[in-house]
Amino acid sequence: MTSHRITLFAGDGIGPEITAVARELLDAVSRRHGFELFYDEQPMGGAAIDATGEPLPPSTLEACRTADAVLLAAIGSPQYDSLPREKRPESGLLGLRAGLGLFANLRPVKIIPALAGASTLKPEVIEGVDLLVVRELIGGVYFGTPKGRVEADGHVRAFNTMAYSDFEIDRIARVGFDLALQRGGRLCSVDKANVLDVSQLWRDRVEAIHVDYPGVNLSHMYVDNAAMQLVRAPKQFDVILTSNLFGDILSDEAAMLTGSIGMLPSASLGSAGPGLFEPIHGSAPDIAGQDLANPMAMVLSAAMLLRIGLKQEAAAADLEAAVERTLAAGFRTGDLMAEGCTQLGCQAMGEQLLAALEG
Ligand code: IPM
Ligand code: MG
Repeated sequence: MTSHRITLFAGDGIGPEITAVARELLDAVSRRHGFELFYDEQPMGGAAIDATGEPLPPSTLEACRTADAVLLAAIGSPQYDSLPREKRPESGLLGLRAGLGLFANLRPVKIIPALAGASTLKPEVIEGVDLLVVRELIGGVYFGTPKGRVEADGHVRAFNTMAYSDFEIDRIARVGFDLALQRGGRLCSVDKANVLDVSQLWRDRVEAIHVDYPGVNLSHMYVDNAAMQLVRAPKQFDVILTSNLFGDILSDEAAMLTGSIGMLPSASLGSAGPGLFEPIHGSAPDIAGQDLANPMAMVLSAAMLLRIGLKQEAAAADLEAAVERTLAAGFRTGDLMAEGCTQLGCQAMGEQLLAALEG
C-alpha cells in the first residue's frame, strides 16, 4: 500500500482542536482511497519554546526535510510576546519557511456558494470570486538586512530592509505565470513601483519573465490600489502575484471576501522537498480551548496537502466536497453563523464533516 509521512504541528491556541478534526478526516479519506498516512508530531512554536526554549529546534527542521509533506495548524500566543523576537513562535514559522526553501505561498480565495451571504460585502460583488494570491515567502522586508534597533543622540531608531534580488523575483514570477496558465490566464503583479526601488526591480523582472509566457495576460497594480480593488471589484482578479509583506496584508483582506478567515487554506512550496500546508488564520488565543474554532480552513489545507503534496487528487476532492456539503446542509461554526443555520462547535463540526465524507 502507498504510504506517506506527514510532519504534523498541532501548534498553539486553537491549533490542537482543528488538528484533531483534520486528522480524523485525513484518516478516513486515506482508508477510502487505499493509502496510509503516518504522522510525525514535532514541537514547533509555543510548544517547542516550553519544551526547549527554541521555537524551531534543529531536530524539528530535520524531521520536516525527510517528510512527504508538512501540516501546520497555527502558532503564536500572547504569553510569548515579551520574548526576544528570535525566540517567539513567529520566528519558528519564518525559520521553517526559510529552512525548507518555501519561496512560493499559494492562497486561493474561492467563494463557496452557501457562504455568499456571510461576507460583509454585497453578494453581487463577491459571487463567483475565484482568485489566487501568490505571495513570495522567504525574501523582502521579512528577511532583509540590515535590520535592528539602535540608540543614538537620545533617540531610538528601528529599521528593516525591503530587498529582492533578480533571481528571487524570477522564480516566484514563474510560479505565478505557470498557475495563471492553469487557471484563467490572467496575472496581476502588485507592487509599489511609483515609490520603491525594490518594486521597480520587481516590475522589470516580471516583465522580463512575461516574454516566456505570451499566453498570459499580465497587468501591474500599485498595492494601495489593489487593496481598494479587492473590496470594490474582486472578480477582476485571477492570479495576484506579490511580495512577502504586500501578500501578507492582501491575503488577509482577500480572505474576508469569503466571510471568515476561518475558511482559507494555503500551501507553501519550494523547488524541491516537502511543502508546508496551513490555514492562513492564526492561533486565535481568545477562543482557544472553548470548542468554538472553525476547523474548515485546516481541513481545506489538508486537502491542498493531499492534492499538491501527495498527488492524491481524488482524496483531496472528497475532503473539499465534504466541506461544501456540510455548509450546504446549513451547519456553521460561530464565525459564520447566519439565520436559519445550525451552530456547531469545532468537534461537532468535525463529526458532520466526517458524516458528509462518508455519506
Ligand atoms: C501569515 C502570518 C505570518 C506572516 C506570521 C504569523 C509570521 O501572518 O502566514 O500570513 O506574517 O507571514
Ligand atoms: Mg498574515
